[in-house]
Amino acid sequence: MNNNIVNLQDKLQALLLSQQGNFVQGSVADYIPALAKVNPALAGISVAAIDGKTVGVGDYQRPFSIQSISKVFGLVMAMNRIGDSLWQRVNMEPSGQPFNSIIQLEWEKGIPRNPVINAGALLVADVLTSHFSASKLAFLSFMRTLAGTEAIYVDNNVYQSELSHGNRNAALAYLMKSFGNIQADIPAILSHYFTQCSVSMSCEQLAQSLLFLANKGVDPRTNEVICSPKDAHRVNAILSTSGMYDQSGEFAFSVGLPAKSGVGGGIIAIVPGYGVICTWSPPLNKFGNSVVGVNLVAAIAEELGLSIYH
Ligand code: DON
Repeated sequence: MNNNIVNLQDKLQALLLSQQGNFVQGSVADYIPALAKVNPALAGISVAAIDGKTVGVGDYQRPFSIQSISKVFGLVMAMNRIGDSLWQRVNMEPSGQPFNSIIQLEWEKGIPRNPVINAGALLVADVLTSHFSASKLAFLSFMRTLAGTEAIYVDNNVYQSELSHGNRNAALAYLMKSFGNIQADIPAILSHYFTQCSVSMSCEQLAQSLLFLANKGVDPRTNEVICSPKDAHRVNAILSTSGMYDQSGEFAFSVGLPAKSGVGGGIIAIVPGYGVICTWSPPLNKFGNSVVGVNLVAAIAEELGLSIYH
C-alpha cells in the first residue's frame, strides 16, 4: 500500500462522514448497564502502520470500553505463559454461536470452541489467574507497555456493572469447572475477566498496541518480541475464523482481515505486514459487532486493497 498519509487522512474522514446516517441501525449494548450510557454518535478511526505512521479521524483519541478486544491481549499472555498446553483446554474452531452462548459448552464437555468467545476467554482468565500472582496488575502492565503509556486504566463503573450483571459468565465458568477444566476459584477468575473487559483505551492506543500482530510478533516501535511468529500467526488465524463471532464467515467473505470486536463498539483489524485498523462506534448489530465499525473496516479494506485473501 503506498497511499501517503494526507490522502489516507482525507479518505478516512470521507468514510466516517459517509456513515453518519448509520448509527441508528444498531443499538448500544445495555446488558451491561454502564455501557448503555455511552453517546451512540461518537465514532473514530485510527490506522497505525508498522513503519511508524499513525492516522486518525473523529473521536480516535477518546478512550472507550475495550470489552472483548481484551481477549486478544489475554490470549497472547496465556500463550506466552503456558505454551502449547493451552490448546488441550480450549479449541481453535469457530463456534457459529453467539459470543456468550452456553449450549455448545455442555455438549463439548467444558472445552470452549475457541479463546475469543466468552467461555474461551474465561478459560484464558483462569490460566492467567492461576499462573500470575497478581494477574490483573500483570494484564494492566502488559497493556501499558504495549500502549507506550502508564495512562491506561480500568473503568470502575463498567467493572462494577459487569460484576453485578455477570451471571451468564459465572454460569459458563462454573460449567467448565464441573468438567474439571477450570483450576482457580470462580470469583477470582470473574474478577480478572471483568477487569480486562473494563479497560478503557482509544482507537489510536489499540491500533498501536497491536502492531506486533501485524509484524510477526515483534513490536516495530521498540523491536521487542511480544510473542513468537508462530503465535502471532495463530492469533491472527483465530481472529480470522472467530473474532467477529457468528458474523466471522461473512466478515471474512466481505472484508478478509483478522479482526476482533467488543460490545463497547470497538473493532480491531490486523493487516499482516502493514499495520492495524481500529474503529469505534457504539451501536451494535445482532451479533454484538459495531454496525458502523463493520462498514468502516470493510470500506477501508476495499479502498486500500488490504484483504489477506487477495
Ligand atoms: O462478558 C461480556 O459479555 C463482555 N464483558 C464482553 C463481551 C463482548 O465484548 C463481546 N463482543 N462483541
